[in-house]
Amino acid sequence: MRVFRYPAPPSSAITPHALWLSRRNMLAAAAGAGLTGMIMPPRPAGAADLAAHPGALSGTGLKPTPLRDVTHYNNFYEFGLEKTDPAERSGAFHPRPWTVQVDGMVAKPRTYDIDALLTRPLEERIYRMRCVEAWSMVIPWIGFALRDLLAEVEPLGSAKYVAFESVVRPSEMPGQGGVLPVLDWPYVEGLRLDEAMHPLTILAVGLYGQTLPNQNGAPIRLVVPWKYGFKGIKSIVRIRLTDRQPRTSWNLRASDEYGFYANVNPAVDHPRWSQASERPIGAGGGFFGAARQPTLPFNGYGEQVAGLYAGMDLRRDF
Ligand code: MTE
Repeated sequence: MRVFRYPAPPSSAITPHALWLSRRNMLAAAAGAGLTGMIMPPRPAGAADLAAHPGALSGTGLKPTPLRDVTHYNNFYEFGLEKTDPAERSGAFHPRPWTVQVDGMVAKPRTYDIDALLTRPLEERIYRMRCVEAWSMVIPWIGFALRDLLAEVEPLGSAKYVAFESVVRPSEMPGQGGVLPVLDWPYVEGLRLDEAMHPLTILAVGLYGQTLPNQNGAPIRLVVPWKYGFKGIKSIVRIRLTDRQPRTSWNLRASDEYGFYANVNPAVDHPRWSQASERPIGAGGGFFGAARQPTLPFNGYGEQVAGLYAGMDLRRDF
């Protein structure tokens, strides 16, 4: 078997600043122009064209997974269990009108209209994404830091966690009406407040310079790059500050398999498979193929986030 060394990016490439390819108050234009019809982004006049800046996407040293794979190999159980279901079965989903309620232990609860959220400065972040199922991608997200939103509602001193909730719309989400639902709805997730306030944690509203496709969690989803992908809750309608550790969908389903923290950790295997390596989607080679690469602690973001877990036993708090 050929051994491929995982191209760990230099630490400079995974600091937040180096990941900011743009801080413009607009969406950058699509790199894959041929697919924009499917995604139908509202393209603000004057949007910068990433295609006009060759090398822009490679500024982090990470090679983004092809757009086709990012949008056609998905986990979004509200639309079905197969990887192709979200792309094929989300056509009737309407991400407008849409509001995100932010409340709980905050001084200034607010309900945000999605289009108002989109007028804030958006930035591109190219992040690795590691699914708990041992596959991975590199995705150029468009979004903003969750902590900026949280600062606006002014969390109370008593708030310790942030709870997230996805939309429930069985009429538009065929997986929610299924006879054998794997999960209870709504999909729920949570972070400790310091994880939510970490500068790497973003709310994404787009990818590849385009409005977020339905199958990737339109119109707004969470991205926490050092955690397994299931923490990245999609199609968020509510964000609630609380003093209790929130219940999370996959933990409710199988608490011995999916922990609350879910930090990417090659040293702690899933009870049914190894987490030591991963299959990069779009690289070919099959499940056990040569393209398999070692998984990095905290998905390669340890330098930035390991300190959040100082003194914790990450085997117990997995
Ligand atoms: N959010 C909701 N609401 N429903 C889901 O089924 N799946 C999670 C996460 N967020 C999921 C979700 C899982 S298991 C993963 S790996 C990622 O979304 C996948 O994101 P992607 O399809 O955009 O790559």
